[in-house]
Amino acid sequence: MSTRAAILWGTGEKWSVEDVELADPGPGQVRVKIRATGLCHSDDHAVTGDMPTPLPLVGGHEGAGVVEAVGQGVTRVAPGDHVILIFQPPCGYCRNCARGRSNLCLNASLQEYGASKSFRARGQEIAATGDLGTFADATVISERCVVKMDKDIPFNVAALLGCAVTTGWGAAVYLAEVEPGDNVVVIGSGGVGVNSIQGAKNAGANLIIAVDTVEIKRQKALEFGATHAVGSIEEAQALLADLAPGRGADAAILSVGVGDGSKLGEIVDLTGPAGITVITSVSPIASDSVNMNLAMFTLTQKTLRGNVYGGVQVHRDIPLLLDLYRQGKLKLDELITQTYTLDQINEGYADMHAGKNLRGVIEFSA
Ligand SMILES: NC(=O)c1ccc[n+]([C@@H]2O[C@H](COP(=O)([O-])OP(=O)(O)OC[C@H]3O[C@@H](n4cnc5c(N)ncnc54)[C@H](O)[C@@H]3O)[C@@H](O)[C@H]2O)c1
Ligand SMILES: [Zn+2]
Ligand SMILES: [Zn+2]
Repeated sequence: MSTRAAILWGTGEKWSVEDVELADPGPGQVRVKIRATGLCHSDDHAVTGDMPTPLPLVGGHEGAGVVEAVGQGVTRVAPGDHVILIFQPPCGYCRNCARGRSNLCLNASLQEYGASKSFRARGQEIAATGDLGTFADATVISERCVVKMDKDIPFNVAALLGCAVTTGWGAAVYLAEVEPGDNVVVIGSGGVGVNSIQGAKNAGANLIIAVDTVEIKRQKALEFGATHAVGSIEEAQALLADLAPGRGADAAILSVGVGDGSKLGEIVDLTGPAGITVITSVSPIASDSVNMNLAMFTLTQKTLRGNVYGGVQVHRDIPLLLDLYRQGKLKLDELITQTYTLDQINEGYADMHAGKNLRGVIEFSA
């Protein structure tokens, strides 16, 4: 069938919204009519070239929609089901899935399902971000890449559970291991970081210090549960010296738009002995050096941790987060600053770069 999608043809170019051919769902695949997709900063790393990616590419990995058609042998969902799309689908039986690390599933690559070969345009095959490609009216993906949800959940907030909410929440709750009474610093309070603030609050943190260079993000951070909001790491350090002398933070979470290894030492220095630093931000792949005092790191028994999908187990955590949303313990509607049509995608990303949006979301008609 023919559909519309936003394609990145080359590094540094704009998203091009055009007609594409979409294959029918093959065995184990489903066609999903996308109803909403978030404008995550991660898709922008493909544009800037900070992260290598196959090109041309249908972008988007933070989406929700309705199952329209299923291929042979599909058992998990049926046409009409509402679903959230997931970019690290667990197989359920590999060593990592079996030990509760399904976000790091050893069989997450879907190449064998041909899932990334669903789009064609201008006579050639087009790749899809995370084997999903949610910047499209419809996409064909493995049934492993969907989590079913109740039909009362709005698509625009559901889409954000596909990445920003899960990644940010899990960074605090699982990877930074925030416990009641902990002091937490979140550097970069955008679509992902603000959810680390929500996670830290729900985990019972004491101080939650948000660091963001943009005033409106600092205001939003306070609305989402931060106890303090400052404009720089130095200010956060001064605040900790004042409010938690000799102790520092138990956790520091980096979620600025683009990571920078030269800043690592000052971020780790925010934490006290046995502190955990989580790096959610993606840094340019070409950059391979960091600046940190290794002796002090050792002598204070600190932990430095990466982040894939917040360490969440999607089939446990997406239902959990939806329950918290229903109970009013998790803000999701408030994450959406501005909605766009697919044709306005470049405007949406320009607004992200201008610091206007906590999250921009593209909405599609039914
Ligand atoms: N590890 C994962 O699984 C995963 C998943 C999703 C996103 N990410 C990454 O997380 C990062 C954040 O994504 P996002 O969608 O929230 O981006 P965003 O653009 O919405 O938010 C980034 C925030 O950082 C702030 N910021 C920028 N430079 C700063 C600085 N020097 N000091 C303080 N604040 C600063 C911005 O004002 C903005 O509020 C990106 O690098 C993205 O690729 C990682
Ligand atoms: Zn697995
Ligand atoms: Zn994302």
